[in-house]
Amino acid sequence: MNYNNDIVILAIESSCDDTSCAIIKNGVIQSNIIFNQKEHQAFGGVIPEIASRHHENKILYIIEEALQKANVSLQQLSAVAVTKGPGLTGSLIVGISVAKSLSLALQIPLIDVNHMQAHIMAHFIKDGTTLNHPPFPFLCLTVSGGHTQIVKVNSHFDFTLVAQTQDDAVGECFDKIAKILGLEYPGGSLIDKAAKNGNHVKYKFPTPKLPNNNYSFSGIKTAFLYFIQKEVAINPNFISENLNDICASIQHHIIFYLLKNLEAVSNQLNIKQIAISGGVAANSGLRYSLNQRGLKNNWTVYIPKSEYCTDNAAMIAVVAHFKFLNKKFSNLSLTPLARFSVENG
Ligand code: KG4
Ligand code: ZN
Repeated sequence: MNYNNDIVILAIESSCDDTSCAIIKNGVIQSNIIFNQKEHQAFGGVIPEIASRHHENKILYIIEEALQKANVSLQQLSAVAVTKGPGLTGSLIVGISVAKSLSLALQIPLIDVNHMQAHIMAHFIKDGTTLNHPPFPFLCLTVSGGHTQIVKVNSHFDFTLVAQTQDDAVGECFDKIAKILGLEYPGGSLIDKAAKNGNHVKYKFPTPKLPNNNYSFSGIKTAFLYFIQKEVAINPNFISENLNDICASIQHHIIFYLLKNLEAVSNQLNIKQIAISGGVAANSGLRYSLNQRGLKNNWTVYIPKSEYCTDNAAMIAVVAHFKFLNKKFSNLSLTPLARFSVENG
């Protein structure tokens, strides 16, 4: 137990295929160690059983590394925080079990964190070099491998889900498109890279229209598959000869769709503080287009550093810091929630 006035929290994130631990001291990130499991590449997607086994093998080493980098001992910890969900149950159990053990052994509070709130709260990470955080209320478009949603953020603890995908997440759509093109998993960043050298208006794709600014990505993915099958039947080298243009065109299409609905919500709610979060927020095309659309709409745009977009424990730590200040603690009956709305937590 930490007997001086410092608030030092160890945060653990193990919801999918990244094992990550961070130390936050008085609201400032001291370390953020991320271990990315490469074993899933061979399967073209995350295999839950493999993910949980690797979390189990790695997590104690990652905690040790996070403590060492922050120059903090276990005895100095004020609390331990962990992702409760949403995510893969087996993966979440590993982080939660370790966090509970530490809480019990060190007699320090346990704090549970909603992963979707944490992606948004990445905007509040302080690490000595971070930018201004958005004022409340603001809109956040969270785009990850498992989720696509527009959230109205009312306060540190109050989130309203305004729109979301009705089927695939946008990151999943990027990864499936990459797979169709023969790129490695997860392919979102590879599409991003190829798109930089391509013509984004060369190929056209359909835009789904759903009520209430909700999204759908399964139709885009299927249309893309049929387009590739048709072109490859005519020219077997179609993909390799046009990879950059294909990536630029589909990426442009997806970004246009994401921002079109975000703009509609912004107009409806009259909120001009606009943020993005989640793994796909690392996409350079989305970051550029958001800034451009922001200029057109008079938005103030907030974009986290790329390292805080993809899964990381720093974002868990920042939520934990606010929860600690408000004495929002969990207890040893904590269990994982595979499905967990951004509005709860
Ligand atoms: O937030 P995240 O790390 O994990 C989840 O909570 O899902 O997001 C992972 C997703 C993957 O689908 C990955 O392909 C995508 O984010 N991603 C990208 C980029 N970097 C990661 N998608 C497009 N462009 C990128 N640069
Ligand atoms: Zn995530």
